[in-house]
Amino acid sequence: MVILASGNGSNFEAIVKALGEKYIIKLICDSKNAYVLKRAEKLKIAYRLIDYKRYRTREEFDKAIFKELKNETPDLIVLAGYKKILPSYIVDYFRNKIINIHPSLLPAFKGLNAIKQAFEYGVKYTGVTVHYVNEELDAGEIIAQEVVKIENEDTLETLEIKIHKLEHKLFPKIIDEILQSQEGDK
Ligand code: GRF
Repeated sequence: MVILASGNGSNFEAIVKALGEKYIIKLICDSKNAYVLKRAEKLKIAYRLIDYKRYRTREEFDKAIFKELKNETPDLIVLAGYKKILPSYIVDYFRNKIINIHPSLLPAFKGLNAIKQAFEYGVKYTGVTVHYVNEELDAGEIIAQEVVKIENEDTLETLEIKIHKLEHKLFPKIIDEILQSQEGDK
């Protein structure tokens, strides 16, 4: 599988720890200062840095991402905190092969800062969604969801901890299920 990540990389690390011995994992990162690169080094995972700052246009950057993805011929592309929207031609080429994790119960609280959005709205339940990626932001077919209850004593910080803990459990589990079912189809 190829994991695309731009930032902290805690989901990347959880996936590697759970599945690194079972599947070949490669990281593609778009930012040279991303902490996920340090995690990849520590975990001895091959990575490719495609630094968006080194491209003149977004189109050229996306083309480089596309080329790298095609080279890898992955069974699954996992967006784990990838902070850019993939252009539609990439989504189309890898239709039903790209998944994302989002820290809310979609379709509620799409986009950035979903945990904060849910907390500030005052919902009593939020959660985590794993979904296929399509052309619309956070709107592809839902694969799995799990619920987190927001207790009266929760703060944004404690809620974030709960959500991330759940992500780190749910995402590897769903990735494994998808790859296993692909094996069955072969
Ligand atoms: C996660 O909360 C994920 O749901 C969202 O971006 C965040 C990435 O965190 N898409 P990390 O980089 O894996 O720590």
